[in-house]
Amino acid sequence: MQTPAKSILGKFVSNLLRTKNPDEFLEQSAAGGLKKTLNAFDLIILGISAIIGAGIFVMIGSAVIGTAERVGAGPALVISISLVAVACIFPALCYAEFASMIPVSGSAYIYTFATMGEFPAWMMGWVLMLEYAIGTIAVASSWTGYLIKLFEGFPMLPEVIKNPPVWLINDYQTAVASNPDAAIPHIFGIPFCINLPAMFIITVIGLILLKGIQESANFAKIMVFVKVAVIALFIGVGAFYVRPENWTPFAPHGVKGILMGAFAIFYAYIGFDAISTAAEETKNPQKNLPIGLIGSLLICSTIYALVTIVLTGMIPMSQIDLKAPIAAAMSFIGQDWFAGAIAIGALAGLTSVLLVLQFGTTRILYAMARDGFFPPIMKKVHPKFQTPWVITVISTILILIGSLFINMQVAAELAIFGTFTSFVIVCLGILLLRKTEPNRPRPFKVPCCPWFPILGILFCSGLMFVALREVKTSAMLFPLWLVLGVAIYFMYGYQSNRKQVALKLQKAEVEPKKETETV
Ligand code: ALA
Repeated sequence: MQTPAKSILGKFVSNLLRTKNPDEFLEQSAAGGLKKTLNAFDLIILGISAIIGAGIFVMIGSAVIGTAERVGAGPALVISISLVAVACIFPALCYAEFASMIPVSGSAYIYTFATMGEFPAWMMGWVLMLEYAIGTIAVASSWTGYLIKLFEGFPMLPEVIKNPPVWLINDYQTAVASNPDAAIPHIFGIPFCINLPAMFIITVIGLILLKGIQESANFAKIMVFVKVAVIALFIGVGAFYVRPENWTPFAPHGVKGILMGAFAIFYAYIGFDAISTAAEETKNPQKNLPIGLIGSLLICSTIYALVTIVLTGMIPMSQIDLKAPIAAAMSFIGQDWFAGAIAIGALAGLTSVLLVLQFGTTRILYAMARDGFFPPIMKKVHPKFQTPWVITVISTILILIGSLFINMQVAAELAIFGTFTSFVIVCLGILLLRKTEPNRPRPFKVPCCPWFPILGILFCSGLMFVALREVKTSAMLFPLWLVLGVAIYFMYGYQSNRKQVALKLQKAEVEPKKETETV
C-alpha cells in the first residue's frame, strides 16, 4: 500500500509534469481573440527583422578578431557562420513542425507544456525571457552606440548631443569602463546611470506594440528594407576593394577560433524562432510558418556570409573596428560618406530587431498568463486594439528597469545561453511528441527524424559548453537566473496553477449538468 507521504510526493511530481494536450491550446487560442493577419511574406519580414541587427552591425568585429576573454575566427568566420547556420537549421525545422501542429502564441513555451509538463514549461518561458527581454537590452544598448555615431556626423549639433555625459548613454559598468574619471551622479550615495536613448527606443516600441501587430508588421517592413539596402550597398561597393591577401592567415586560431567565432556570431542568428510566436496571428499557419522560418534563416545566412567575405577581404584583420566594423571598413577605403548611411541602416536594423524581441516577450508572457502562471489581470486583451495590453505595459517597464543594471555584453551572452537552451529543449520536445502522439496530424514534419533533432541537440549543446568555459560573468549569471525561475515557480506559479486546474475541473463538472438541465 502507498504511504500518505508517498502519495503526496507522487501527486506533487505529477502536478509538476502535468502536460497540456495540444488541442487545449488550440481551443484557448480560438477563444483568445487575436487577429489573424500575417502571411508567409510577413513572416519572412518578421524573421529578417529579428535576425539582422547588432550581430552583423556590431558583433561581427569581435567574432573576427576576438576579445580579451576569447579568440576570434579571423576570415574563417565564414566557416563559423556556416556552422551556426547548420546548427540553427535543425531547431528551425523542429520549430516548424511544432508551430504548424500547434499554431498558437507562446512558441517553445507551449511546445514544452505539450510535451514535458507544467514545470519544464515554466522554466522554458523563463529561459525565453533571457533571449527576448534581456536580449532587448543588448540591442537597445547597441542602438545608443549607433545613434551617437550618427550624431557625430553632424558638426552643427550642440556638444551635449554629439558627445553626451557617459552616465546618460551607458549603464554604470560600461560608463566606468569607458571613462574611469567620469563624473557620475549619486542618489542617496548610490551611483546613478541611465542609458537614455536605449530607454527611449524601448518605450517607443512598447507603445507601437500596444497599438497592434499589423501596424508593427508595416513598420518592420520599412526598417527591413532600409537595413537590407544598406547591407547590399556595403557588399556591392566593398567587393571592388577586396584584396585576397587579407584572407591570409585564414584561420589564425584554428578550430578553437572557429568555434569561438561561432559562439560570438550566434547572436546574429537569435530571433528566427520569434516567427513561431506569431503563429496565432498567422493565416494558414501550417504552410506559412515553415516557409517563414527556413526562408528567413537561409536569406540571413547568405547575407552574413557575403558580409564576412567582403569585410575580411577589404581590410587587414588588425584594422577591423570593434564598435562599428562595417562603417569603419568604409572609412578605411576612403568612403567616409558611407559611414553615415551605415549608421542609419544599423539604427533601422536594430529598431526592427527590438520590435520583434519585444513582441516575442509580450506573446510568450501572454501565453503563460493564460495558463495561470501570472495573476489573471495579465491576460487582458485590449477591446479595441486586440493586443495583450497589460502584459505589454508591464514587460516594457521591467525591460526599462533591467536596462539600468545590465550591460550590453553580458545581456548578449545571456541571450545566447537562453537561446541555446530553448533550441535544445525544442529538439527534445519533437522526439518526445513523436513517441507520445505518433498519430497527431503533422502538416509539416522534420525530415530524417530522429537524426535531425538529435543533431540539433548535439550542435547547440556542444557550442554552449565550449563557450561556458570562456565567458565568465554570464556563465555565472545564467544558473542564477535559472534558480530565480525555480523560486518564483514554487512561490507563486505552482499554487496558482492548482487553482486554475481546480477551476477547470469545476467548470467541466457544471457544464454537462447544465446541458442535461436544458435538455
Ligand atoms: N539577431 C539579433 C541581432 O543580431 C538579435 O541583433
